[in-house]
Amino acid sequence: MKPLSNTVEQFTESIFSTMTKMAMENKAINLSQGFPDFDGPRWVIDLATKALNEAKNQYAPSMGILPLRQAIAHNYQRFYNMKVDAASEVVVTNGATEAIFCACLALLNPGDEVVVLEPFYDSYLASIQLAGAKVVPVTLKAPDFHFDIEELKAAVSSKTKLLIVNNPHNPTGKVFTADEIAFIGDLARKHDFYLLSDEVYEFLTYDVAHKPTATYGDLKDRTITISSTGKTFGLTGWKIGWAIGPANLIKAIHNVHQFSTFCVAQPLQWAMSEALIKMDDYLVEFKADYLRKKNILVKGLKECGFNTIEPKGTYFVMAMLPAGENDVDYCKKLIIEKKVATIPTSAFYIKSDEGTRMIRFCFAKQDETLINALKNLH
Ligand SMILES: Cc1ncc(COP(=O)(O)O)c(C=O)c1O
Repeated sequence: MKPLSNTVEQFTESIFSTMTKMAMENKAINLSQGFPDFDGPRWVIDLATKALNEAKNQYAPSMGILPLRQAIAHNYQRFYNMKVDAASEVVVTNGATEAIFCACLALLNPGDEVVVLEPFYDSYLASIQLAGAKVVPVTLKAPDFHFDIEELKAAVSSKTKLLIVNNPHNPTGKVFTADEIAFIGDLARKHDFYLLSDEVYEFLTYDVAHKPTATYGDLKDRTITISSTGKTFGLTGWKIGWAIGPANLIKAIHNVHQFSTFCVAQPLQWAMSEALIKMDDYLVEFKADYLRKKNILVKGLKECGFNTIEPKGTYFVMAMLPAGENDVDYCKKLIIEKKVATIPTSAFYIKSDEGTRMIRFCFAKQDETLINALKNLH
Protein backbone atom coordinates (compact mmCIF):
# COMPACT_ATOMS: atom_id res chain seq x y z
CA MET A 1 0.00 0.00 0.00
CA LYS A 2 1.16 3.53 -0.72
CA PRO A 3 2.22 5.66 2.28
CA LEU A 4 -0.18 8.12 3.91
CA SER A 5 0.41 11.87 4.15
CA ASN A 6 3.98 12.48 5.38
CA THR A 7 2.73 15.29 7.62
CA VAL A 8 -0.09 13.31 9.18
CA GLU A 9 2.12 10.27 9.76
CA GLN A 10 4.17 12.40 12.18
CA PHE A 11 1.16 13.20 14.38
CA THR A 12 0.94 11.21 17.59
CA GLU A 13 -1.72 10.87 20.30
CA SER A 14 -2.04 14.16 22.19
CA ILE A 15 -0.70 14.27 25.74
CA PHE A 16 -4.21 15.23 26.93
CA SER A 17 -5.68 11.96 25.71
CA THR A 18 -2.77 9.98 27.16
CA MET A 19 -3.08 11.57 30.60
CA THR A 20 -6.87 11.32 30.66
CA LYS A 21 -6.64 7.62 29.78
CA MET A 22 -4.03 7.02 32.47
CA ALA A 23 -6.13 8.98 35.00
CA MET A 24 -9.12 6.74 34.25
CA GLU A 25 -7.12 3.54 34.48
CA ASN A 26 -5.74 4.60 37.86
CA LYS A 27 -9.01 6.13 39.12
CA ALA A 28 -7.15 9.41 39.62
CA ILE A 29 -8.79 12.83 40.03
CA ASN A 30 -8.35 14.49 36.66
CA LEU A 31 -6.84 17.98 36.83
CA SER A 32 -5.16 17.48 33.46
CA GLN A 33 -7.42 18.22 30.50
CA GLY A 34 -8.83 21.75 30.25
CA PHE A 35 -12.55 21.34 30.59
CA PRO A 36 -15.03 21.65 33.48
CA ASP A 37 -16.25 18.59 35.40
CA PHE A 38 -19.60 20.39 35.79
CA ASP A 39 -22.29 21.25 33.25
CA GLY A 40 -22.72 24.61 31.52
CA PRO A 41 -25.40 27.08 32.66
CA ARG A 42 -28.94 25.70 32.56
CA TRP A 43 -30.37 28.90 30.99
CA VAL A 44 -28.04 28.53 27.99
CA ILE A 45 -28.82 24.83 27.62
CA ASP A 46 -32.55 25.74 27.74
CA LEU A 47 -31.98 28.19 24.87
CA ALA A 48 -30.54 25.32 22.80
CA THR A 49 -33.51 23.08 23.66
CA LYS A 50 -35.82 25.88 22.52
CA ALA A 51 -33.95 26.18 19.21
CA LEU A 52 -34.03 22.40 18.69
CA ASN A 53 -37.80 22.50 19.14
CA GLU A 54 -38.21 25.46 16.80
CA ALA A 55 -37.10 23.55 13.69
CA LYS A 56 -33.71 25.26 13.50
CA ASN A 57 -32.19 21.94 12.52
CA GLN A 58 -30.96 22.26 8.93
CA TYR A 59 -27.65 23.52 7.60
CA ALA A 60 -26.83 26.97 8.89
CA PRO A 61 -25.45 29.69 6.62
CA SER A 62 -21.79 28.86 6.12
CA MET A 63 -20.56 32.17 7.64
CA GLY A 64 -22.75 31.57 10.71
CA ILE A 65 -26.28 32.79 11.39
CA LEU A 66 -26.43 36.59 11.21
CA PRO A 67 -27.88 37.07 14.74
CA LEU A 68 -24.86 35.23 16.18
CA ARG A 69 -22.39 37.25 14.12
CA GLN A 70 -24.23 40.40 15.22
CA ALA A 71 -24.09 39.35 18.89
CA ILE A 72 -20.35 38.64 18.59
CA ALA A 73 -19.72 42.02 16.92
CA HIS A 74 -21.89 43.78 19.53
CA ASN A 75 -19.84 42.24 22.35
CA TYR A 76 -16.48 43.33 20.86
CA GLN A 77 -17.92 46.84 20.66
CA ARG A 78 -19.25 46.97 24.23
CA PHE A 79 -16.47 45.04 25.98
CA TYR A 80 -13.45 46.35 24.06
CA ASN A 81 -14.65 49.34 22.03
CA MET A 82 -13.65 47.37 18.92
CA LYS A 83 -15.72 47.97 15.83
CA VAL A 84 -16.50 44.76 13.93
CA ASP A 85 -18.74 44.47 10.86
CA ALA A 86 -21.00 41.46 11.49
CA ALA A 87 -21.63 40.94 7.78
CA SER A 88 -18.06 40.78 6.52
CA GLU A 89 -15.62 40.59 9.44
CA VAL A 90 -16.84 37.54 11.41
CA VAL A 91 -16.98 33.86 10.51
CA VAL A 92 -18.42 31.30 12.94
CA THR A 93 -16.41 28.08 13.19
CA ASN A 94 -16.46 24.75 15.00
CA GLY A 95 -14.62 26.06 18.02
CA ALA A 96 -11.45 28.09 18.07
CA THR A 97 -9.60 25.00 16.86
CA GLU A 98 -11.30 25.09 13.47
CA ALA A 99 -10.77 28.85 13.23
CA ILE A 100 -7.03 28.34 13.82
CA PHE A 101 -6.91 25.55 11.25
CA CYS A 102 -8.81 27.56 8.61
CA ALA A 103 -6.72 30.68 9.26
CA CYS A 104 -3.47 28.73 8.75
CA LEU A 105 -4.73 27.15 5.55
CA ALA A 106 -6.07 30.47 4.30
CA LEU A 107 -2.88 32.45 4.89
CA LEU A 108 0.06 30.12 4.50
CA ASN A 109 1.99 28.79 1.53
CA PRO A 110 4.72 26.16 1.61
CA GLY A 111 7.95 27.91 2.59
CA ASP A 112 6.25 30.56 4.75
CA GLU A 113 7.35 30.83 8.36
CA VAL A 114 5.17 31.21 11.44
CA VAL A 115 6.58 32.48 14.72
CA VAL A 116 4.98 30.72 17.67
CA LEU A 117 5.58 31.55 21.31
CA GLU A 118 6.21 28.32 23.18
CA PRO A 119 4.83 26.68 25.27
CA PHE A 120 1.87 26.58 22.89
CA TYR A 121 -1.49 24.89 22.35
CA ASP A 122 -0.80 21.81 20.26
CA SER A 123 -3.20 22.49 17.38
CA TYR A 124 -1.02 25.42 16.18
CA LEU A 125 1.79 23.11 15.16
CA ALA A 126 -0.47 20.67 13.30
CA SER A 127 -2.35 23.44 11.47
CA ILE A 128 0.87 25.16 10.37
CA GLN A 129 2.40 21.87 9.23
CA LEU A 130 -0.72 20.86 7.31
CA ALA A 131 -0.45 24.17 5.45
CA GLY A 132 3.14 23.22 4.52
CA ALA A 133 4.65 26.13 6.43
CA LYS A 134 7.51 26.14 8.94
CA VAL A 135 7.17 26.75 12.67
CA VAL A 136 9.75 29.07 14.24
CA PRO A 137 9.47 28.77 18.03
CA VAL A 138 10.40 31.49 20.53
CA THR A 139 10.50 30.45 24.17
CA LEU A 140 8.61 32.27 26.92
CA LYS A 141 10.95 32.15 29.90
CA ALA A 142 9.69 30.98 33.31
CA PRO A 143 8.76 32.09 35.89
CA ASP A 144 7.12 35.21 34.36
CA PHE A 145 7.10 33.77 30.83
CA HIS A 146 8.54 36.85 29.13
CA PHE A 147 10.04 36.56 25.66
CA ASP A 148 13.61 37.57 25.00
CA ILE A 149 13.46 40.53 22.65
CA GLU A 150 16.60 39.50 20.76
CA GLU A 151 15.35 35.91 20.36
CA LEU A 152 12.05 37.19 18.97
CA LYS A 153 13.74 39.62 16.59
CA ALA A 154 16.06 36.85 15.37
CA ALA A 155 13.08 34.54 14.73
CA VAL A 156 11.55 37.01 12.27
CA SER A 157 12.72 36.96 8.66
CA SER A 158 11.47 38.01 5.25
CA LYS A 159 9.69 34.62 5.15
CA THR A 160 7.62 35.35 8.28
CA LYS A 161 3.97 35.41 7.26
CA LEU A 162 2.30 35.05 10.66
CA LEU A 163 2.92 35.22 14.40
CA ILE A 164 0.59 33.40 16.78
CA VAL A 165 -0.01 34.84 20.22
CA ASN A 166 -2.30 33.26 22.78
CA ASN A 167 -3.51 35.75 25.37
CA PRO A 168 -4.41 34.89 28.17
CA HIS A 169 -1.96 32.07 27.72
CA ASN A 170 -2.40 28.32 28.04
CA PRO A 171 -0.57 26.60 29.79
CA THR A 172 1.27 29.34 31.72
CA GLY A 173 -1.62 31.53 32.89
CA LYS A 174 0.29 34.55 31.59
CA VAL A 175 -1.45 37.72 30.45
CA PHE A 176 0.83 39.62 28.08
CA THR A 177 1.65 43.18 29.11
CA ALA A 178 0.68 46.11 26.89
CA ASP A 179 4.39 46.70 26.19
CA GLU A 180 4.85 43.10 25.04
CA ILE A 181 1.90 43.23 22.64
CA ALA A 182 2.99 46.66 21.40
CA PHE A 183 6.47 45.26 20.71
CA ILE A 184 5.02 42.32 18.77
CA GLY A 185 2.81 44.78 16.87
CA ASP A 186 5.79 46.97 15.93
CA LEU A 187 7.62 43.92 14.58
CA ALA A 188 4.52 42.90 12.59
CA ARG A 189 4.27 46.34 11.00
CA LYS A 190 7.99 46.57 10.30
CA HIS A 191 8.23 43.11 8.70
CA ASP A 192 4.71 43.09 7.31
CA PHE A 193 3.37 39.87 8.82
CA TYR A 194 -0.07 38.94 10.12
CA LEU A 195 -1.00 38.23 13.73
CA LEU A 196 -3.26 35.46 14.92
CA SER A 197 -4.44 36.25 18.43
CA ASP A 198 -6.04 33.28 20.20
CA GLU A 199 -8.15 34.79 22.98
CA VAL A 200 -10.31 31.86 24.10
CA TYR A 201 -9.64 32.74 27.77
CA GLU A 202 -10.61 36.40 27.26
CA PHE A 203 -13.05 36.41 30.20
CA LEU A 204 -10.74 34.53 32.55
CA THR A 205 -8.36 37.16 33.90
CA TYR A 206 -7.59 37.92 37.54
CA ASP A 207 -6.87 41.54 38.55
CA VAL A 208 -6.00 42.52 34.98
CA ALA A 209 -8.33 43.46 32.15
CA HIS A 210 -8.18 41.60 28.84
CA LYS A 211 -7.29 43.76 25.85
CA PRO A 212 -7.56 42.18 22.39
CA THR A 213 -4.41 42.47 20.25
CA ALA A 214 -6.52 44.02 17.48
CA THR A 215 -7.25 47.06 19.68
CA TYR A 216 -3.60 48.16 19.76
CA GLY A 217 -3.31 51.06 17.32
CA ASP A 218 -3.83 49.94 13.75
CA LEU A 219 -3.16 46.23 14.45
CA LYS A 220 -6.77 45.45 13.59
CA ASP A 221 -5.72 45.70 9.93
CA ARG A 222 -3.40 42.67 10.22
CA THR A 223 -4.86 40.70 13.13
CA ILE A 224 -7.13 37.68 13.13
CA THR A 225 -8.82 37.48 16.51
CA ILE A 226 -9.97 34.02 17.48
CA SER A 227 -12.19 33.11 20.39
CA SER A 228 -14.95 30.72 21.35
CA THR A 229 -17.71 30.19 23.88
CA GLY A 230 -16.35 26.86 25.14
CA LYS A 231 -14.39 28.24 28.09
CA THR A 232 -16.63 31.23 28.84
CA PHE A 233 -19.81 29.19 29.13
CA GLY A 234 -18.25 25.92 30.30
CA LEU A 235 -19.72 24.26 27.20
CA THR A 236 -16.58 22.98 25.52
CA GLY A 237 -18.56 20.27 23.71
CA TRP A 238 -20.61 22.81 21.76
CA LYS A 239 -17.62 24.03 19.76
CA ILE A 240 -18.94 27.47 18.89
CA GLY A 241 -15.98 29.62 17.90
CA TRP A 242 -15.11 32.40 15.50
CA ALA A 243 -12.48 34.34 13.64
CA ILE A 244 -12.67 38.11 13.34
CA GLY A 245 -10.52 40.23 11.06
CA PRO A 246 -10.33 42.37 7.94
CA ALA A 247 -12.95 41.35 5.37
CA ASN A 248 -10.42 39.97 2.85
CA LEU A 249 -8.86 37.67 5.47
CA ILE A 250 -12.26 36.51 6.76
CA LYS A 251 -13.33 35.78 3.19
CA ALA A 252 -10.24 33.55 2.75
CA ILE A 253 -10.78 31.85 6.13
CA HIS A 254 -14.41 31.26 5.20
CA ASN A 255 -13.32 29.72 1.89
CA VAL A 256 -11.47 27.03 3.86
CA HIS A 257 -14.32 26.65 6.38
CA GLN A 258 -16.91 26.09 3.64
CA PHE A 259 -14.92 23.17 2.24
CA SER A 260 -13.89 21.63 5.57
CA THR A 261 -17.04 21.66 7.72
CA PHE A 262 -19.28 24.12 5.81
CA CYS A 263 -21.17 25.26 8.90
CA VAL A 264 -21.66 24.97 12.65
CA ALA A 265 -24.61 23.23 14.42
CA GLN A 266 -27.49 25.62 13.84
CA PRO A 267 -29.51 25.23 17.10
CA LEU A 268 -26.40 25.87 19.18
CA GLN A 269 -25.73 29.03 17.19
CA TRP A 270 -29.24 30.32 17.97
CA ALA A 271 -28.71 29.59 21.67
CA MET A 272 -25.38 31.39 21.70
CA SER A 273 -26.74 34.37 19.77
CA GLU A 274 -29.13 34.99 22.69
CA ALA A 275 -26.71 33.99 25.45
CA LEU A 276 -24.00 36.39 24.29
CA ILE A 277 -26.22 39.42 24.58
CA LYS A 278 -27.61 38.35 27.96
CA MET A 279 -24.33 37.26 29.55
CA ASP A 280 -23.52 40.19 31.87
CA ASP A 281 -24.97 38.80 35.13
CA TYR A 282 -23.61 35.36 34.28
CA LEU A 283 -20.14 36.83 33.69
CA VAL A 284 -20.00 38.32 37.19
CA GLU A 285 -20.79 34.93 38.72
CA PHE A 286 -18.44 33.12 36.32
CA LYS A 287 -15.49 35.35 37.20
CA ALA A 288 -16.16 35.06 40.94
CA ASP A 289 -16.39 31.26 40.68
CA TYR A 290 -13.09 30.95 38.84
CA LEU A 291 -11.32 33.38 41.18
CA ARG A 292 -12.46 31.21 44.10
CA LYS A 293 -11.34 28.00 42.35
CA LYS A 294 -7.95 29.54 41.52
CA ASN A 295 -7.47 30.57 45.15
CA ILE A 296 -8.45 27.13 46.46
CA LEU A 297 -5.98 25.36 44.17
CA VAL A 298 -3.06 27.80 44.34
CA LYS A 299 -3.24 28.12 48.13
CA GLY A 300 -3.74 24.38 48.57
CA LEU A 301 -0.84 23.48 46.28
CA LYS A 302 1.44 25.86 48.16
CA GLU A 303 0.43 24.17 51.42
CA CYS A 304 1.34 20.83 49.83
CA GLY A 305 4.81 22.21 49.08
CA PHE A 306 4.38 22.92 45.35
CA ASN A 307 6.27 25.86 43.87
CA THR A 308 3.34 27.38 41.97
CA ILE A 309 3.37 30.31 39.56
CA GLU A 310 0.34 32.55 40.22
CA PRO A 311 -1.74 32.70 36.99
CA LYS A 312 -3.01 36.10 35.80
CA GLY A 313 -5.46 34.41 33.43
CA THR A 314 -6.93 31.09 32.17
CA TYR A 315 -7.98 28.19 34.40
CA PHE A 316 -4.52 26.68 34.70
CA VAL A 317 -1.74 26.92 37.23
CA MET A 318 1.85 25.87 36.62
CA ALA A 319 4.13 24.42 39.28
CA MET A 320 7.93 24.27 39.04
CA LEU A 321 9.32 20.87 39.96
CA PRO A 322 12.17 20.29 42.42
CA ALA A 323 15.61 20.03 40.78
CA GLY A 324 16.30 16.63 39.29
CA GLU A 325 12.64 15.81 38.60
CA ASN A 326 11.31 15.32 35.06
CA ASP A 327 7.76 16.38 34.15
CA VAL A 328 6.58 13.19 32.45
CA ASP A 329 7.87 10.87 35.19
CA TYR A 330 6.57 13.23 37.86
CA CYS A 331 3.06 13.29 36.33
CA LYS A 332 3.01 9.49 36.09
CA LYS A 333 4.12 9.28 39.73
CA LEU A 334 1.35 11.71 40.81
CA ILE A 335 -1.28 9.62 39.00
CA ILE A 336 -0.11 6.30 40.43
CA GLU A 337 0.91 7.33 43.95
CA LYS A 338 -1.35 10.35 44.66
CA LYS A 339 -4.25 9.60 42.32
CA VAL A 340 -4.13 13.08 40.77
CA ALA A 341 -3.64 13.63 37.03
CA THR A 342 -1.86 16.73 35.71
CA ILE A 343 -0.16 17.64 32.41
CA PRO A 344 3.58 17.42 31.78
CA THR A 345 4.39 20.69 30.06
CA SER A 346 7.27 19.49 27.86
CA ALA A 347 4.48 18.54 25.43
CA PHE A 348 3.91 22.27 24.79
CA TYR A 349 7.53 22.96 23.75
CA ILE A 350 9.53 22.05 20.65
CA LYS A 351 12.67 24.14 21.16
CA SER A 352 13.43 24.49 24.85
CA ASP A 353 13.59 21.84 27.57
CA GLU A 354 12.07 24.30 30.10
CA GLY A 355 8.87 22.27 30.05
CA THR A 356 10.55 19.28 31.66
CA ARG A 357 10.74 21.34 34.89
CA MET A 358 7.02 22.18 35.12
CA ILE A 359 3.60 20.60 35.34
CA ARG A 360 0.16 22.12 34.74
CA PHE A 361 -2.93 21.80 36.95
CA CYS A 362 -6.43 22.71 35.70
CA PHE A 363 -8.89 24.29 38.14
CA ALA A 364 -12.00 24.21 35.91
CA LYS A 365 -13.37 21.70 38.40
CA GLN A 366 -15.97 21.58 41.14
CA ASP A 367 -14.64 22.94 44.44
CA GLU A 368 -15.12 19.47 45.88
CA THR A 369 -12.93 17.93 43.14
CA LEU A 370 -10.18 20.45 43.89
CA ILE A 371 -10.42 19.86 47.64
CA ASN A 372 -10.28 16.08 47.19
CA ALA A 373 -7.30 16.37 44.85
CA LEU A 374 -5.50 18.53 47.43
CA LYS A 375 -6.25 15.96 50.15
CA ASN A 376 -4.58 13.31 47.94
CA LEU A 377 -1.58 15.54 47.34
CA HIS A 378 -0.90 16.22 51.05
C1 LIG B 1 -5.22 28.21 23.80
C2 LIG B 1 -6.38 27.44 23.29
N1 LIG B 1 -6.87 27.72 22.07
C3 LIG B 1 -7.91 27.05 21.57
C4 LIG B 1 -8.52 26.04 22.29
C5 LIG B 1 -9.66 25.29 21.67
O1 LIG B 1 -10.84 25.96 21.76
P1 LIG B 1 -12.18 25.30 21.18
O2 LIG B 1 -12.61 24.25 22.15
O3 LIG B 1 -13.12 26.43 21.07
O4 LIG B 1 -11.84 24.70 19.86
C6 LIG B 1 -8.06 25.72 23.56
C7 LIG B 1 -8.67 24.63 24.32
O5 LIG B 1 -8.14 24.11 25.26
C8 LIG B 1 -6.97 26.44 24.07
O6 LIG B 1 -6.47 26.17 25.28
